[in-house]
Amino acid sequence: MSLAALHADRAERFDVARARADFPCLQQTVHGRPLVFLDTAASAQKPRVVIDELARMLREDYANIHRGIYDLSQRATERHDAARAKVRGLLNAGEAREIVFTRNATEGINLVAQSFVRPGVRPGDQVLITAMEHHANIVPWQLLASQCGLELAVAPITDEGELVVGELEALLSPRTKLVAVAWVSNALGTVNPVEEIIRLAHGRGVPVLLDAAQAVQHLPVDVRQLDCDFLVFSGHKLYGPSGIGALYGKAELLEAMPPYQGGGEMISSVSFAGTEFNEIPHKFEAGTPAIEAAVALGTAIDYVQDLGLGAIARHEAELLAYATEQMERVPGLHLVGTARHKCSVLSFVMDQAHPQDIGTLLDLDGIAIRTGQHCAQPAIERLGHSATARASLGLYNTGDDIDALVASLRRVAAMF
Ligand SMILES: Cc1ncc(COP(=O)(O)O)c(C=O)c1O
Repeated sequence: MSLAALHADRAERFDVARARADFPCLQQTVHGRPLVFLDTAASAQKPRVVIDELARMLREDYANIHRGIYDLSQRATERHDAARAKVRGLLNAGEAREIVFTRNATEGINLVAQSFVRPGVRPGDQVLITAMEHHANIVPWQLLASQCGLELAVAPITDEGELVVGELEALLSPRTKLVAVAWVSNALGTVNPVEEIIRLAHGRGVPVLLDAAQAVQHLPVDVRQLDCDFLVFSGHKLYGPSGIGALYGKAELLEAMPPYQGGGEMISSVSFAGTEFNEIPHKFEAGTPAIEAAVALGTAIDYVQDLGLGAIARHEAELLAYATEQMERVPGLHLVGTARHKCSVLSFVMDQAHPQDIGTLLDLDGIAIRTGQHCAQPAIERLGHSATARASLGLYNTGDDIDALVASLRRVAAMF
């Protein structure tokens, strides 16, 4: 077999048992039962290589970056720069300077709100979002509304949780300053047709921000092929540490934007008369960053790329289909969010039990799911509910996890 064929063959097969063994947290019991972790949409568990790299970085290569002439600081700086290069590679951005390290996806959206949209906004200008957004892609725009008169336009979704693309198109107008959409809905699992959305928006000269918080860990991403203007994600949902995320922005846009916060590192020269700002991306990275978290995010990216994002996507798609089929057979259970194109998320309600009761009873069986509004209250309410239970999948989940979930849900159904 040629080397290329070997690689292709390896990418085809996904050895979930082997991958699962990489996650120490999954090896425990909860309430005397093996942990079944089905809350990856909230935050993913961490593979041993990420945990080890965090500890190793703090033990061996830690110093503040960009500041020291000494070897240790230069090593830390090199490791941090390498992590940025890995994020560039993950997203297939053209240049590493188009990657701004942030705390998380939320901070990336707030940065775009304050530094891209806010300057030059006139009362009545709009940002166009959808009815299935996470609060992180709603509230920053509402803050701008109170600060400078920005309006929020919201494209509707169907009862199945699909975006009505024609309505989104109709809402585009000369007043639209930005389209900001979730690639994948954390509450419903809907995968939005982002290529089409970008094409429609660009056809009207409107830039697009993709909230990829639920996408980068499930789908291969290529910002140049997509031609999106901005994209944000969080490291902790990509099997990396919390406290680190990234904003991708086209270089010409980032260069034209004013800084988000002021402080050290984001300047090239400071006097009391005025300050010259550093180049991108440093202009947007005021203060000491999450150094070890950025480096360990780079390790998480290596980890998923080594497993193969395509192989992970196929494994999760099979599991989602199996879980959907099995859960639909549980008496009194209704899936919330049944879009044709979904990934990794199963939101549901049961006739017999409140989501909170479902979550509590499943926990007694060692099964971790999320209950409530999933930081997407408008989406949940649009589909006619005040709360749902949500099981969400990661690369380490198995058919056995789904069987355990379904058995436990059947017990809940029988109990009420
Ligand atoms: C679609 C989506 N956007 C944004 C966020 C916010 O992510 P973070 O809290 O890591 O900033 C989340 C988190 O669940 C999400 O699912």
